[in-house]
Amino acid sequence: MPDRSLRVHREVVSYVRRSERMNPSQEKAWAAHADRLLIPVPSRGLDTSVHPDARIDWASAFGREAPLMVEIGSGRGEALVALALRHPDANVVAFEVFAPAIASTMSRIARHEVGNVRIVKANGAEGLKHLFADSALEQVWTFFPDPWHKARHHKRRLVSPEFAALVAAKLRPGGLWRLATDWEDYALAMREVLDGAPGLQNVHGGWAPRWAERPVTKYEARGLAAGRSVFDLTYQRTPTANGDAPTVGDLLHRTPRPDAHGEAAL
Ligand SMILES: C[S@@+](CC[C@H](N)C(=O)[O-])C[C@H]1O[C@@H](n2cnc3c(N)ncnc32)[C@H](O)[C@@H]1O
Repeated sequence: MPDRSLRVHREVVSYVRRSERMNPSQEKAWAAHADRLLIPVPSRGLDTSVHPDARIDWASAFGREAPLMVEIGSGRGEALVALALRHPDANVVAFEVFAPAIASTMSRIARHEVGNVRIVKANGAEGLKHLFADSALEQVWTFFPDPWHKARHHKRRLVSPEFAALVAAKLRPGGLWRLATDWEDYALAMREVLDGAPGLQNVHGGWAPRWAERPVTKYEARGLAAGRSVFDLTYQRTPTANGDAPTVGDLLHRTPRPDAHGEAAL
C-alpha cells in the first residue's frame, strides 16, 4: 500500500522551477566541490523537497560543533561567503534550489577558501522544519527573497505566518532572524506578519539599520540602480513565559501578545 502522506503533488513553493543547465565553469565547480560542500538530503520524490524523516548530524557534516547560522535562498552565495568569513566560529548552512547558483557559490567558497559553509539543494522551508532541532539556530538570514508581485502569487512569498512560526521555533531564545528586501510592498507585508508573530520581537521596533556585515549583492545593486530603497529587518526569538522553547505548533496556535516586545538594540 503506497504511503499517501508522501504523495507527490504540485505544491505552492517560493521559487520558480527553471532549467538547471550549467555553464562549463559551473559544471567544473560542481564536479570539484560538491562532494565536500553539498549535503545530500533524502526527498519525498520532488527534487527540492525534504523527506520528513530526513536528519543531518551537523557536527559531523562540518567536522566540529559550532553555533549554526542558516541562509535560505543563498543565490550565488555573495552574502553567504562574506558572512561566513565574518563568522569563522559558526557553522553556516545555505539552502538554495537552483543548481547553477549553487555551482557559482561553490566556486566562490573555493576562491575565498571558506571552510565553514555547507549547502543543501532543497526547499529551505522544508529543510528548516526537518533538519534542525527546535532552538538549534543562532541566526537565520533571508535576503532579497523572490518578491512574487502579483496578488494571486502572494501565497508563494517565503515570509508567511507559517514560515515565521517555523523560524521562531528553530531559533534559540535570543537568536536573530535578519531579512532584507528592495520591494516596499513585500517589506510592509513582512512587517505585518512578523511584528505580530508569536515568539518574535522586532529588535528595532521598526526598520533595522542596514546590517553592516551584509555585502551589496547583485539583487540589491539592481534594486538601488532602479531607484528602489532597501529595507532591513531584524527579529529576535523571545523566551516563552516559562523559559521553555516553543514548538511550531505552539507558535502557530498562540495569539500575539503586544506586551512581548522589549527594548534590545542589535
Ligand atoms: C532573488 S534571489 C536572492 C539571492 C540572494 N539571497 C541574494 O541576495 O543575492 C532568491 C533566491 O532564493 C532561492 N529560493 C527561493 N525560495 C527558496 C526556498 N524556499 N528554498 C531555497 N531557496 C529558495 C531562489 O532560487 C533564488 O536563488
